[in-house]
Amino acid sequence: MRDVILTGDRPTGRLHLGHYAGSLKNRVELQNSGSYDEIYIMIADSQAITDNADNIGKIRENILEVALDYLSCGLDPEKSTLLIQSQIPELCELTFYYMNLVTLARLQRNPTVKTESALRDFENSIPVGFLVYPVSQAADITAFDATIVPVGGDQLPMLEQAREIVRSFNALYGETLVEPHALLPKNEAMGRLPGTDGKAKMSKSLGNVINLADSPEEVKKKVMGMYTDPKHLRVEDPGNTKDNPVFIYLDVFSNEGHFEKYWPEYKNLEELKAHYERGGLGDVKVKRFLNQVLEETLQPIREKRKFYEARPDEVYRILQEGSIKARRKAAAVLKRVRQAMGLEYFDQGEARQ
Ligand code: TRP
Repeated sequence: MRDVILTGDRPTGRLHLGHYAGSLKNRVELQNSGSYDEIYIMIADSQAITDNADNIGKIRENILEVALDYLSCGLDPEKSTLLIQSQIPELCELTFYYMNLVTLARLQRNPTVKTESALRDFENSIPVGFLVYPVSQAADITAFDATIVPVGGDQLPMLEQAREIVRSFNALYGETLVEPHALLPKNEAMGRLPGTDGKAKMSKSLGNVINLADSPEEVKKKVMGMYTDPKHLRVEDPGNTKDNPVFIYLDVFSNEGHFEKYWPEYKNLEELKAHYERGGLGDVKVKRFLNQVLEETLQPIREKRKFYEARPDEVYRILQEGSIKARRKAAAVLKRVRQAMGLEYFDQGEARQ
């Protein structure tokens, strides 16, 4: 059997450079490798409702934003099926059956649920829908027979939970569901791009993100204001490149071609780092270079975004067609699930067995 890819994002805001490094770039590469016939990219609006029930308007608006980010980064609807989770009601039915295969204690122990509940101050008043979302995510994955789920490390507990559900289901009702595998970002820096303020993660709520849709002026301002090594006070001082977000971004985004084009004094990042560590290299120069490097990635994305921004009807058409196609697949898998469970009472003869 050939591999099927499924992954997705909650539409709670525009996507940023952290999303690009940690997943979007890789998705586009997987798509363009031509090795996969089926790639599903889900805008997980129903999952976003589990902690935004009082603010569905925000989710509705961000569906278009996320779709624009997808298309502008190079996801191609001819090669990848872009779908909206809530348009596939089969996922709810699968979730309902899978809920019987998971205990309350197991969900409460899920590390992602724990961290996310703490962040949201749920304490003892966790909405049931939120607590159960790992089960619904297992439905997202299994409904398409996904074998490969490209995600960040924070989603590993979700994958583990999905794999357990698959194993329990298959043990009870016979081999029916496909066991998925996580595909993690290539290296740690890509998986977790720090914020512009040096905090561990780029996050909208911390206000330390560079959005893919930011203008060149906004990007420049954010880069020039980035946190660096606080001990690197004077140009002559030796600097630290390790916990320095400017260098971490360069690790992820720069290549020798950028040096040749913008800063031929150095052959590559190693040489630049050595100079910074020795002392005698100011932050402003490095930041200017980083800005040029980031623009190489961001500028084409911005151009494509403009094209689609002017054509929202076209974007919705893409999402609608993708959702219809995805629903067809999910319905076939659900049928298989119902047959395995013996629920297809009115299929020929089955009612009387
Ligand atoms: N939980 C994921 C996130 O917060 C989004 C998501 C929903 C997802 N369904 C999925 C990811 C299925 C992978 C597979 O980013």
